[in-house]
Amino acid sequence: MPKKLHIKTYGCQMNVYDSERMAGLLARHGYAHVADPAAADLVILNTCHIREKAAEKVYSELGRLRLVREERRAAGGGDLQLVVAGCVAQAEGRAMLERAPFVDVVVGPQTYHRLPELLARRTRDKGGQLDTDFPVESKFDLLPVSAEPSPISAFLTIQEGCDKFCTFCVVPYTRGAEESRPVAAVLAEAEQLVARGAREITLLGQNVNAYHGDGPDGRPWSLGRLIRELAAIDGLWRLRYTTSHPRDMDDELIDAHAEVPALMPFLHLPVQSGSDRVLQAMNRGYTAADFERIVERLRAVRPDIALSSDFITGFPGESDADFEATMDLVRRVGFAQAFSFKYSPRPGTPGAVMPQQVKDSVRAERLARLQTLLEAQAAAFIAKTVGLTLPVLFERPGRHPGQLVGRTPYLQAVHVDAPSSMLGTMQVVAITEAFPHSLAGRLADHPAADQPSADDPYTRATEGSARGPAQPEETFA
Ligand code: SAH
Ligand code: SF4
Ligand code: F3S
Repeated sequence: MPKKLHIKTYGCQMNVYDSERMAGLLARHGYAHVADPAAADLVILNTCHIREKAAEKVYSELGRLRLVREERRAAGGGDLQLVVAGCVAQAEGRAMLERAPFVDVVVGPQTYHRLPELLARRTRDKGGQLDTDFPVESKFDLLPVSAEPSPISAFLTIQEGCDKFCTFCVVPYTRGAEESRPVAAVLAEAEQLVARGAREITLLGQNVNAYHGDGPDGRPWSLGRLIRELAAIDGLWRLRYTTSHPRDMDDELIDAHAEVPALMPFLHLPVQSGSDRVLQAMNRGYTAADFERIVERLRAVRPDIALSSDFITGFPGESDADFEATMDLVRRVGFAQAFSFKYSPRPGTPGAVMPQQVKDSVRAERLARLQTLLEAQAAAFIAKTVGLTLPVLFERPGRHPGQLVGRTPYLQAVHVDAPSSMLGTMQVVAITEAFPHSLAGRLADHPAADQPSADDPYTRATEGSARGPAQPEETFA
């Protein structure tokens, strides 16, 4: 009987990617994934530390799981092992084993490849195991890629860690120094994903556009160059990358948006604030004007590009005028989608000890105003898509029989009546209706005139997998 594993994933897509790799590793040790944590022999919480109460939420989830374990033991059932992975594990470290001694393993994001050994040691030694090293060996070389079919839209982490030290952010402390994987490793993994059914790949990194992995020519390659190479993989139709930093939007990457048709015209480019004073205090390394110049250049080479961004309200020292500068920037630039947060002081970051902390009520009021504006822009963008004919990559069955769900180039989910044989194919869809979080459409009778033809993905049926991409339990949203 295979042992049963449940992984609950919080936070960013990099955690989603890591969870899949952990599942792949543990599959080799006899674990099969189950949807219900209460039915599992091993539960991994892959945690996120980005904003407040993250650690508290993990402790209360652990408390619930502990009860499940006790009930099971009382009923004479088997054991339930508890592992805390991810950025809260890294940040809390030993403190977590002290506060929750019933936890079996606390493992940071850099040492997942040691999980089987940690679990075995736990069984042998009986004590809770801790591993929050930043080892020299790379987890990527040691975590096997799963043999399962790939999601049609897959994630691929190409860069990890961050050296930018924005004054509000924990990531440089939880994920360590910025590191890019070698080009050959990325290409090999992308080819494997495509061979297993992926048709779209999203390249991941905390600062993915700072990518500078060693190329086969012995020199570091930029993200722009890597994207061109990946786009040549047969059967890979769509490429995306996230999250990018405005400081690293170089010409080669901007040009890739003009020249690589597989690179989708949708970019997440966090700006955080529209005030130069605040941007400086955040240590972002650009001004509002720099950001707008990047947007102009992108729109010049790819007029149909749509933008998404992240914002923080109430960073220490943010005045009313600073906040209005953010509102003005949003009005000038226009975003198709955005994530916005009120500033959350994180232990150990410079922001947390800055004087002039903004009152929570003010942070919240500003957030509400900003969100009203951003939501109106997002609604206007969705409304604009109704009536368009767009290529849609079908990723999973819909809720109703005879329905498939796919995504437009702008990552919008579209529900379409379509046969299941179209799963994993790209079809031209006329968008007929907009809902708050999705669109409805129908298969277009004829491909739009501006769609690629002949040996193109729109007409090629492929064997896709029925599995949609894994989604984190809680995202930035
Ligand atoms: N590397 C990306 C962001 C990663 S974190 C970048 O530099 O743009 C994702 C988002 O969480 C950030 O863009 C920011 O908007 C938000 N965030 C991070 N730390 C935060 C904090 N302390 N308080 C509120 N929001 C925060
Ligand atoms: Fe955090 Fe800044 Fe690094 Fe993004 S660039 S991960 S916000 S420190
Ligand atoms: Fe959260 Fe860690 Fe990602 S803090 S956002 S899971 S890098």
